[in-house]
Amino acid sequence: MESGPGRGINFGNALDALGGGPELPLDERYFDEVARAGFDTVRLPVRWSAHAAAAAPYTIDPAFFRRVDAGVRAALDRGLNAVVNVHHYQEMNTDPDAHLPRFLALWRQIAARYAGLPGQLAFELLNEPGGRLTPSRWNAVLAQALAAVRASDPERTVIIGPAGHNDLHALPALAVPDDARLLATVHYYAPFDFTHQGAGWVPGADRWLGRTWGGASDEDAVRSDLERAAAWGREHGLRLFVGEFGAFCGAAMDSRERWTAFVRAEADRLGMSWAYWEFGTDFGAFDLVRGAWREPLRRALLGAADPARRTSRP
Ligand code: BGC
Repeated sequence: MESGPGRGINFGNALDALGGGPELPLDERYFDEVARAGFDTVRLPVRWSAHAAAAAPYTIDPAFFRRVDAGVRAALDRGLNAVVNVHHYQEMNTDPDAHLPRFLALWRQIAARYAGLPGQLAFELLNEPGGRLTPSRWNAVLAQALAAVRASDPERTVIIGPAGHNDLHALPALAVPDDARLLATVHYYAPFDFTHQGAGWVPGADRWLGRTWGGASDEDAVRSDLERAAAWGREHGLRLFVGEFGAFCGAAMDSRERWTAFVRAEADRLGMSWAYWEFGTDFGAFDLVRGAWREPLRRALLGAADPARRTSRP
């Protein structure tokens, strides 16, 4: 993944599902849709912590490991890159001291298992570190997690993001380890009262319903945020990956399209890779019921449809 993940999409709410919400079945045909549409990368969020023993040596459930294997293989077989992370390990944010040995043991197992796979697979150490993982604590933890990966896999691209839930404003506090194969990630959901309007897991988000997005001052805010991240990347010699960005289905589609297209175009202009949050559930660019892309979101991400591709399909 020398030049970065390129244009990606998250298969969210599949291997990371918390239960009780919408879920994405990790079906082979969805990998086909993503490859055919022209994406380069699938980010596979994985909730390993819900599928590993609570006591040392913290063995990952073999059946779950095989599900992740299948997702990785489905991406690589289609010429897509895959990004595998540790997702929703909330206890790392609430009680990192107690969970650090387990977190490191997860990475030792994951890295050893996938060490033989091609460079199209990248690892991302932890989704949205925050809470008790303060910037200084996280910097120490991420160095240990990187060492756990490097013990069996010295060459693979590893993605690191700042504490503060991968907010780009937290980049200055991220200590970058000395390692030639790192990428930096940030998540972008600003303005939050637009992207998360109506989101059931955000207290008070119903009050934001009806917030639209567009116009010069909205655009200026996004541009200056992303330029700040790009400047940090240049300063540290690291390529940037906007590993999550998206607007929840509670927002009006015309605003979602404008915001998504603008963030995507700015990321492209600044030479950043990106991955839309997410493929097929509550932010979904793809409508699982109709079995088709939501055209405004597909267009916002990938541009005008390829006429050759269109005519070749029934
Ligand atoms: C979380 C999702 C959430 C999304 C947007 C992700 O990191 O895993 O549950 O929908 O962020 O808030």
